[in-house]
Amino acid sequence: MSNAESSASQSPSVASAPTPPGNVVSIAKLAEHVGETVTVRGWLYNKRSSGKLHFLEVRDGSGIVQAVVFKGNVSPELFAAADHIQQESSIEVDGLVKEHGKLKGTYELDAKDVRLVAATAREYPISPKEHGTDFLMDHRHLWLRSKRQHAIMRVRHAIIKAVRDFFDENDFTLVDAPVFTPNACEGTSTLFQTDYHGEPAYLTQSGQLYMEAGAAAFGKVYCFGPTFRAEKSKTRRHLAEFWMVEPEVAFMDLAGDMVLAEQFLSFVVSRVLETRRKELDVLASEKRPDDPEWWTRHMTMLENVKAPFPRITYHEAIDLLQKNGHPDAKVGDDFGGDEETTISKKFDCPVIIHRYPMDLKAFYFARDPNDPTLALNMDVLAPEGYGEIIGGGQREADLARLESAIAEHRLPKEAFEWYLDLRRYGSFPHAGFGLGIERTVSWICGLPHVRETIPFPRMLNRLAP
Ligand code: 4AD
Ligand code: MG
Repeated sequence: MSNAESSASQSPSVASAPTPPGNVVSIAKLAEHVGETVTVRGWLYNKRSSGKLHFLEVRDGSGIVQAVVFKGNVSPELFAAADHIQQESSIEVDGLVKEHGKLKGTYELDAKDVRLVAATAREYPISPKEHGTDFLMDHRHLWLRSKRQHAIMRVRHAIIKAVRDFFDENDFTLVDAPVFTPNACEGTSTLFQTDYHGEPAYLTQSGQLYMEAGAAAFGKVYCFGPTFRAEKSKTRRHLAEFWMVEPEVAFMDLAGDMVLAEQFLSFVVSRVLETRRKELDVLASEKRPDDPEWWTRHMTMLENVKAPFPRITYHEAIDLLQKNGHPDAKVGDDFGGDEETTISKKFDCPVIIHRYPMDLKAFYFARDPNDPTLALNMDVLAPEGYGEIIGGGQREADLARLESAIAEHRLPKEAFEWYLDLRRYGSFPHAGFGLGIERTVSWICGLPHVRETIPFPRMLNRLAP
C-alpha cells in the first residue's frame, strides 16, 4: 500500500489526495478503456480472498467493479495490506481494464496498486446480512450507498428528468410555486403551520392555486417541488414531505386533462424503460417466495402503460368494489388504501376514475353540469395495487360559486382574495393535475413502501437523519 499504511484499527487519516499516475475514470466508463491502465477512486463495497487473490469490489457512485489483486503482480506489503481494508474505506486502485472472461459486458481491474485514502473509524454498521427497517432508516445516510438504494435513486432521477422533458418539450413554462403560503389548498386537516414573522403560515400542500395564476399568465405551466402534508397515519403511501409535479392549462377541460395525464405518464414510463434497464434489473432480484413470477408480470405491466387508459366513473368504481370484496361500499364513500388496491388490481395498466361526489373533494373543483353533485375531477390509479398516483381535474371558473365553496369549506376568504382575482379578471376554463413522484417511483420500482423512494424520507415519527 504505497501511500497510507493505516488500517482500520488505526485512526483514520485522509491521505492528501495524491494525483494518481494513471487516468482517473469512472466505473461506468470502463468499457471505453479496455487494455489501458486506469485509476478508479471510490469505496470498498465488499471483499473476498482466496490464497493468492484478493477480490476487492469497489464502488464509485457510477457503478461497481471488481479489482483483482494477484499476489504475483504486487509487492508482498501491498498484498498483505489489501487484506485489511475495511468495508467502506475510501481507496484508489490503479489497474489494467479487462473484460471478464465469462461475463460479456462486465469489466474487471487487474490491480497494480491500491491506495487507502481514509480507513473507516470503526466497523461499517451495514453488512450484507439482513437488517431491520428501523435500523436501516436510522442509518439512511449510509444505507444510500447500497446497490438497491443506488438503483432506486437512479430510477427516481430518470423519472424526474422525464417529467421535466415532457413538459419542456410540450411548450409548458416552469413557474415555481412558493413553499410558505397563507392558503390551505387541500383541506385544513393536514397542514403544517409555521410562524412567519409573527403571522401564521403553512408549508404548501400543493402549488396548484399558484399554477392557476400561472396559467392565466403563460397558458401552459407546471411547477415541481416539495409539498408537505401532516398525515396522521402510517401507511405505505404517505410521506410528510413529498415531491409533486403540477401542470395547469388554460382553456382545457376535464377530458383534455385526462388525455394530458395519460400521455404524460406513458412518456415517463417508456423513458424509464429505455434508460434504466440496468437499475430495474437490480431491483428484480428482490425475492418474493410466494410469488416468484412477480417481476416478469411487473415489467409486462410497465410495457402496457400506453395511452389511452381505461376510464371509469366514481359510480362504476363503487359497483366494482361491491362485486370485489367490499360489499358495504356505497356512493359517498371515499376510497382508502384498500379500496384503491382492489380497483387498481382489476386493471393491467393505469386506470382513470372520474367524477367523484363534490362532498369528498377540495373546494376548487368545477361541478359536472349534468349532475352538480359530482366534481369534474379525476384520479389516476397505478396497477398492481399501487393506487392513486395522480389527482386533478377542472377548476371552478365562476366567481360566485367559488366564493360559496370557500365559505362551505370554512376557509378564510381573506387569504383567498388573490385567488378570487383570477375569476374577477378574465376567468377561463382550466384544468390540471398533480403527480406524486414518490408513489410513482414506488410503483415503477415495484417497492412495497414509499420510504425508500426519496433520499431522506419524512414520515410520522421520523425527522432524522
Ligand atoms: O390528490 P392530491 O392531494 O392533489 C392535489 O394536491 C392537487 N392540488 C394537485 C393538482 O391538481 N395540481 O395529490 C396529488 C398527488 C397524489 O395523487 C399522490 O401521488 C401525491 O400527490 N400525494 C402524496 N404522496 C406521498 N405522500 C403523501 N402524503 C401524498 N399526498 C398526495
Ligand atoms: Mg388525491
